[in-house]
Amino acid sequence: MPRMAIPERTPARPIDALLRESRTFEPAPEFRRQANVSDPAVYELAARDPEQFWAGFARELEWVRPWDRVLEWNPPRAEWFVGGKLNVAANCVDRHARTHRKNKAALIWEGEPGDVRTLTYQDLYREVSRFANVLRSLGVRRGDRVTMYLPMIPELPIAMLACARIGAPHSVVFGGFSPTALAQRMNDAECRVLITCDGYWRRGEVVFQKHRADDALRQVPGADTVIVVRRTGDRVPMQAGRDRWWHELMAEAPSECPPEEMDAEDVLFMMYTSGTTGKPKGIVHTTGGYLTGVYATTKWVFDLKDSDTYWCMADIGWITGHSYIVYGPLANGATTVMYEGSPDWPDRDRLWAMVAKYGVNVFYTAPTAIRQFMQWGPEYPARHDLSSLRLLGTVGEPINPEAWMWYHRHIGREGCPIVDTWWQTETGMILITPLPGITTTKPGSATRPFPGIEADVLDDQGRPVPPGAGGYLAIKSPWPAMLRTIWRDPERYVNQYWNKWDRSTYYAGDGAKRDEDGYFWLLGRVDDVMNVAGHRLSTMELESALVEHEAVAEAAVVAAPHEIKGQVPAAFVILQNGFGPSRELEEGLRKKVEEVIGKIARPERILFTPDLPKTRSGKIMRRLLKDIVEGRELGDTTTLRNPEIAEELRQAYWR
Ligand code: WTA
Repeated sequence: MPRMAIPERTPARPIDALLRESRTFEPAPEFRRQANVSDPAVYELAARDPEQFWAGFARELEWVRPWDRVLEWNPPRAEWFVGGKLNVAANCVDRHARTHRKNKAALIWEGEPGDVRTLTYQDLYREVSRFANVLRSLGVRRGDRVTMYLPMIPELPIAMLACARIGAPHSVVFGGFSPTALAQRMNDAECRVLITCDGYWRRGEVVFQKHRADDALRQVPGADTVIVVRRTGDRVPMQAGRDRWWHELMAEAPSECPPEEMDAEDVLFMMYTSGTTGKPKGIVHTTGGYLTGVYATTKWVFDLKDSDTYWCMADIGWITGHSYIVYGPLANGATTVMYEGSPDWPDRDRLWAMVAKYGVNVFYTAPTAIRQFMQWGPEYPARHDLSSLRLLGTVGEPINPEAWMWYHRHIGREGCPIVDTWWQTETGMILITPLPGITTTKPGSATRPFPGIEADVLDDQGRPVPPGAGGYLAIKSPWPAMLRTIWRDPERYVNQYWNKWDRSTYYAGDGAKRDEDGYFWLLGRVDDVMNVAGHRLSTMELESALVEHEAVAEAAVVAAPHEIKGQVPAAFVILQNGFGPSRELEEGLRKKVEEVIGKIARPERILFTPDLPKTRSGKIMRRLLKDIVEGRELGDTTTLRNPEIAEELRQAYWR
């Protein structure tokens, strides 16, 4: 793995300023008294015997057959709850539908136009079982992959749980990804079944999802079955023999469907995420360990109670939605809220109106959203009664202390602990986080590893760095919800994550520092992955999308800091002979990126240039481009074959 520079933290403030952040917030005694966990001894207990610690949570779930061994660790391959049999849908739904929770809301969903659907655990049980029967009737068998390309509507979690019920791994592709991106993921997973919808609402307009799905399907030769949810009621083309309406299939399906007995290590789902090459990675998560990990962290980090209404604002198309809208909360028998649309529709107080309407107790969102709320102003939350809120969370990128304090004041009204949770698609579950009844928080720090998790900050040689020094975040022992492999690419799994130091230390790809109290401060990615408004994008994917355009000879993309989105792509482009820079061409390149990846990846800045800073061997020095977009002094240019270009680009960029 190449040597990489530890970043200064973007966007808001460099790390030294952060480490001088001296405000601390202790858990309030009232909170501590009612917390699911309040005894700091749990850290030591878990560290002494992590396997027993995790087994304790696993025992709170329902197993068809108990495991023989908690962990089989042949680095870098882990198996958790070896020999155990269970079904995730039975744990998330059936288990609660049999108890006092049968008429409790499992899911409260609100559409953007204001339509509401509430599904009790009993309702969810019937819907999931019905849809599981539908899938079976269409020939989906245990082990077959099913792709979903859906917006935030109840059919998405229903379909996921139905897949889990019959042992068919799901692959949810974020609804905002382009048809090309969807096709690439379906082909990689060799999926023949796609679940999509006619359309959905976004800022008062219909997005025609089925048309987008059809575009994708033209590039997926193996797809033979498409299930279409009717959401907006718009007319959409239906291909005879291939496309079927969800509601018609459901009308005929029986509402009993015995769950498959799954092995703890059977694949539950795969989730494509961006890595350091042009090809997205199908991160594979399995059954017993994943469920135990998300169950445990939901219970302790969000302090969930049976009486709570919990709302995670993420999209289920990303890992946060999988773990902390669907599986974690439902495994806990919670009420989980889902919202289809935009936070500023019809006005910028939509979320706060919903918090008040449903009496939301626990609220989880991303720093980019908080910075957006800050910019809109505190008058929007102030319009509503937010007194039901008792705990707030953030995830997805480093949170700057200003945003943390704003969240604390204007949403938490200075009475809610904030949990800043660090984790990844690969980790499956939260790994670094405060425990709200125990941890004294510091704005901007994710604080400490969850009990049972061993994390450190290492240098290139794998030595722990001293307090205050930058290094690479490393996880030093296995955890139950860890990824097991990359779909059809076990070698990349090893190389990407377990090859930087020894084979048993996980390389996260994030820079970090620890302070004198041992608190972790995350610094952002150290590889060619960027984080745009909480969405993970690869610079390589962007570059290869750009060079697909006929006018482009070469392109280099780096992440530029952005006040609200955290980071945005900035592209430096060399044109082919015969093409000249123009506004139209700039727009054409943005369109191209939108076509290949999706709107979220549109470059914010495109700079046409006759040349790029390159080493003598012809390698683009992205480090210098990063210096430029971050407004830093240019680093060493002596190894360049064209040293003058860096300064020229800097001036052009900031002109
Ligand atoms: C970043 C999202 C700082 C980090 C769950 C990580 C964070 C990447 C935090 C994973 C946090 C996530 N503080 N950085 N609390 N949470 N990150 O796979 O760079 O979409 O590697 O998973 O987001 O993004 P992913």
